[in-house]
Order: sequence, then structure tokens, then C-alpha cells
Amino acid sequence: MTDVLRPHAEDLYAEELAVLAKSDDRPRPPGWRLSPWAVTTYILGDGDQITPKYIGPRRVVEVAVATLATDRALLLLGVPGTAKTWLSEHLAAAVSGDSTLLVQGTAGTAEEAVRYGWNYARLLAEGPSREALTPSPVMRAMTDGGIVRVEELTRMPSDVQDALITVLSEKTLPIPELNEEVQARRGFNVIATANDRDRGVNELSSALRRRFNTVVLPVPATAEEEIDIVSRRVEQLGRSLALPEIPAGLEEIRRVVTVFRELRSGVTEDGRTKVKSPSGTLSTAEAISVLTSGVALAAHFGDGVLRAADVAGGIRGAVVQDPVSDQVVWREYLETVVRERDGWSDFYRACRDAG
Ligand SMILES: Nc1ncnc2c1ncn2[C@@H]1O[C@H](COP(=O)(O)OP(=O)(O)OP(=O)(O)O)[C@@H](O)[C@H]1O
Ligand SMILES: [Mg+2]
Repeated sequence: MTDVLRPHAEDLYAEELAVLAKSDDRPRPPGWRLSPWAVTTYILGDGDQITPKYIGPRRVVEVAVATLATDRALLLLGVPGTAKTWLSEHLAAAVSGDSTLLVQGTAGTAEEAVRYGWNYARLLAEGPSREALTPSPVMRAMTDGGIVRVEELTRMPSDVQDALITVLSEKTLPIPELNEEVQARRGFNVIATANDRDRGVNELSSALRRRFNTVVLPVPATAEEEIDIVSRRVEQLGRSLALPEIPAGLEEIRRVVTVFRELRSGVTEDGRTKVKSPSGTLSTAEAISVLTSGVALAAHFGDGVLRAADVAGGIRGAVVQDPVSDQVVWREYLETVVRERDGWSDFYRACRDAG
């Protein structure tokens, strides 16, 4: 175990990647560490030595991986918490062995983050030279022939987004100050992520959109699938945070996932009762953090078993984002659905007591 709070995927799963590289006899695209087939196995697991990282439709992953082997870039699109960032990190780790080349898109992202900047001390002392230039992650990925990740692409100002167009279509980055250019080496590609919900912050220009293949990451199709995702991640997180081990608490996981799914979809699981949806997204990612906090509570202050009282506060916090309207939605859900449900009386009481 390392001191690092969150090791990069290629370090955390170095062994699995090595096992795959060794047995992989399928053709590898130029610059790739693994064949597309082995990358897909790394992502989805093989039911044996390779653990699943992303849980979802195989086809989605295959299309994403195949895209990276073409000259088109990959855009992962989806509602919050559908593992866009997570999948892009693991794809970069498996394809180029390095998931650290990253541009975080924000309203303040400057063009230097996509092209290059200057070390001004050297620039002033020596004039423009290759040594005075500070490459962006995109430029480094081009020279290394690797994958660069662009997070939250649509949050970047449009002119910064557009700086990617030449890179993606010509695979080159001109440096007019030096009268030079950087040409991308084989293996270079871009994985961008963007959020469905924030669409419209900065629309993706159509010129840029045409250079991406879009893959939409779905929300988990069934409750079973979501429970599987949540329990795996809660267990992994608990281990990496070195939380004292406590029994899986499958019952509590099931209840949290059920509540989230019902409130999200606006109808109870049996399809009988309509419920109102709160303003928050109630994503899988939020369910994971509610349960991880619950595990910490149970481990440090409870009797070592994850109980309803350990998750009640977290659920309420996730559901009630708007103190007025969401509070009404939550109350109504508690009284009409949770209260009547067989075997849920401890859960009802814990949620009521949580406020
Ligand atoms: N289908 C899934 N398979 C595996 N893990 C998942 C899945 N869905 C969600 N997760 C987990 O949810 C967490 C959050 O995912 P991530 O941050 O990648 O979401 P995101 O789509 O990038 O969200 P945002 O739009 O808020 O950036 C991760 O820990 C990830 O493991
Ligand atoms: Mg993300």
C-alpha cells in the first residue's frame, strides 16, 4: 500500500495491465500498449484475474476503444456520475500507460492549456526557444504518442475549444514564434468528457463536434446493476481509505440505491406509486459517497455494522438540495412510500430523525 491517497489507474492496476500485456497476442495499433481487445478486457474484467472497472454495456466500451484506434477523437457524454471521468482515466491507462495528461475544462481555461505557454524568465533572457516553451498536456501527448484527456470540454470558452480543431484535424500544433510545428506521433488521441446537464454552458462548435465520435454513457439499467457498481466501489474506496472493515451492508446498499432510483425516475419500483423527483441528480456517484460516509460512521462511531442511521443523514443531504421544495418532496416520499414498506421501519425512523 502506498502513501498516495489516490494512485493513478496505471499504478493501481499495474499488475493487471502487465498480465494482459503478456498474454495479449492480438494486433496492437501503433503506439498502443495493448490491443483493443485487451483494453476492453481490462475495462470490463474477465471474471478472473482482471477486475471490472466499468460496469455497463460491452458495446459501449467496444465503440469507445475502437474510436481511439481511428483518427477521430472520443467524446464521452452523459449525465453526472455515469463514470465518464472514471472510464476516460482507465482507457488512457490501458491504451498509453499514462492517464496523467489532463486538461481540466473550466470557464477560466486558457489557450495555453491546450497549446503551449512560455517560461517568461527564460523567454526574456534567451528569447523564444524550444527550451523556453512550456508544453501543454495536449502537446506532450502529441510528442509522446499518447492519450490526453480533456475534462468538461463544454465548460471551456469556445475559442479555447477551437484551438483543438487543428490538433484534431491536422494532427499538428504550429508554433509560429519559432517557425516550427509539433507533429503528433502515432498513438496520439484525445478523450474528452462532457456533461449532458450542463449542455449550453458553452455549446460544442459543430466544427469540433464533427471531429469527435460521441459515446453516451447510460445510467445503470437495472437496480441489480447499480447495486453491483455501488457495492464494488464502496468496498474499494473503504480499502483505499483504510476504513476499518465492516460487513458489506448489502441491505443498506440496496435501500439507498432503491431510494435513489425511485426518486430519479419518479415512480416506485413496483410501478404502482408516482413520486415527485427532487432537483438534484441523485447519481450513482452520490449513492457511492453516501454509503462510504455511512461506512465511516459505522466503523468509527457505531457497532461495526452499517445501519440505517448511518446512511440516513447522507441520503437526506443528497436529496434535499433546495431547502424548500426538495424538503417537501422528501417528506412526501418518506410518508407515502418508505413508511408503508415492509421491513423498512428502522429506515423510516432513521430518516425521520435525520430531519
Ligand atoms: N457504470 C459504472 N461502473 C463503474 N463505476 C461507476 C459506474 N457509474 C458510476 N461509477 C462510479 O461513480 C464514480 C463517479 O464517476 P465519475 O466521476 O467518473 O462520473 P462523471 O460521469 O465524470 O460525473 P461528472 O459529470 O459529475 O463529472 C466513480 O467512482 C465510478 O467508479
Ligand atoms: Mg467527470
